[in-house]
Amino acid sequence: MALVNGLFLTAMSLYTQSMLRDGSLEGKVIWVTGGGTGLGKSMVKYFVELGAKVAISGRREEKLQEAAAEISIENVFPVVCDVRESNEVEATVKAIVAHFGTLNGLVNNAAGNFISPTERLSHRAFDVVIDIVLKGSKNCTLSCGKYWIENKIPASVLNIVTTYAWTGSGYVVPSATAKAGVLAMTRSLAVEWAKYGMRHNAIAPGPFPTKGAWDRLFPKEMSDKINLESRVPLKRVGHHQELANLAAYLMSDFSAYVNGEVVTIDGGEWLQGAGQFNQMEAITQEEWDFLEKIVRANQKKS
Ligand code: HXC
Ligand code: NAP
Repeated sequence: MALVNGLFLTAMSLYTQSMLRDGSLEGKVIWVTGGGTGLGKSMVKYFVELGAKVAISGRREEKLQEAAAEISIENVFPVVCDVRESNEVEATVKAIVAHFGTLNGLVNNAAGNFISPTERLSHRAFDVVIDIVLKGSKNCTLSCGKYWIENKIPASVLNIVTTYAWTGSGYVVPSATAKAGVLAMTRSLAVEWAKYGMRHNAIAPGPFPTKGAWDRLFPKEMSDKINLESRVPLKRVGHHQELANLAAYLMSDFSAYVNGEVVTIDGGEWLQGAGQFNQMEAITQEEWDFLEKIVRANQKKS
C-alpha cells in the first residue's frame, strides 16, 4: 500500500511539469488554430518555452492579442482567421511565412461543439460544427500541405480529435461525425504525404476543463448533477500540461518515426464505458465473496 501511494505521489508531482528538454522545438514554426484559448493556448505556451515560434489564429482578435501579450510578443504571431473560409486560410499561411520566414508545423485545434439532441438541430446548426471541425481542418491541412510540397519543407501535422471519433456519441453528433472525418484524414495523409517528409498524427483527449468546452457541454446546472471524475478510471480530469507535453513530443523531431498514430490521453475513460463488465467496479468485497461462492457452486453443477 505504501508503495502504491509512493508511486501515486511521484506521478502526481510529474504530470504538471514540463517534460521535454530545453530547445526541443528550436527551429520550428508552428501554426496552432484556436491557439488563443483553452488547450490551444496551453500548447502554445509550452511550444514557445521549448524554442518554437508560434502563429495563433481564431475569430476573436482580442483573445489572440491577449494570449500573445501573455506568452511572448516576439515569439507568438496572432492572426485573425476563420478556418471555415479557404481564402482566409490561404492568406494566413502567407502571413505566417512573411512574419517568421517559414512554417513547418500545424496543429488543427480549432473546434465548435455544443450539446443537443440531434432532432433539435437545424441544418445550419449541424453544418456549423462540421464546417469548423472537418472543413476547417481540411482547409488548413490542404493549404499548409501544398506550401510544404512546393517548397520541399519537412513538416508535422497534429490533429486534436476526441475519443468519440471512433466510438461515436449521442448528443454531440455533428462533432463526432466531424472528428471521425479528421481522424480518417490523419491516417490517410500519414501514408499519402509521407513521401514529402510530412507526418500526420492525432491526440484524442478525455475531459480537460476549459471554458469553451465546459460552457457548451457541461454547464454548471448540468455538471452539478454528473460526476465527471467518476467516469474516469484514474478518477480525475486531465491537466493541461500533460496534454501540452504529449503535443510537444509529437511536434518535435523526437517523434520522427511516429506517423499516422492517434494517442488517447483520457485516464482510461472511453475503455471504462466500453468494457462489458467494467460496471462491476461497484461491487463490494463482501458481495464478491458471495458471488464467488455461487459461481463456484454453479461450475460444479455444469
Ligand atoms: C442548438 C444551436 C446551439 C445550441 C447554436 N445553435 N447553438 N442549436 N443548440 N446550443 C445553432 C444556431 O441557432 C444556428 O442555427 C447555428 O447553430 C449557428 O449558430 P451561430 O451562433 O450563428 O454560429 P457561430 O457564431 O459560428 O458559433 C459556432 C458555435 C459556437 C459552434 C455555435 O458554440 C462556437 O463558436 N464555438 C467555438 C468554441 C467551442 O465550441 N469550443 C468547444 C470545443 S469542445 P440557425 O438554424 O438558428 O441559424 C470539443 C470536444 C469536447 O470540441 C469533448 C469534451 C470531453
Ligand atoms: P476552446 O477553448 O473553445 O477552443 C476552441 C478554439 O477554436 C477557440 O480558440 C476558438 O476561437 C477557435 N475557433 C472556433 N471556431 C473557429 C473558426 N471558425 N475559425 C477559427 N477558430 C475557431 O475549447 P478547448 O476545450 O480548448 O478545445 C480545443 C480542442 O480540444 C478542440 O479541438 C476540442 O474538440 C478538443 N477537445 C477538448 C476536450 C476538452 O475536454 N476540453 C476534450 C476532447 C477534445 P474563436 O472563438 O475566437 O474563433
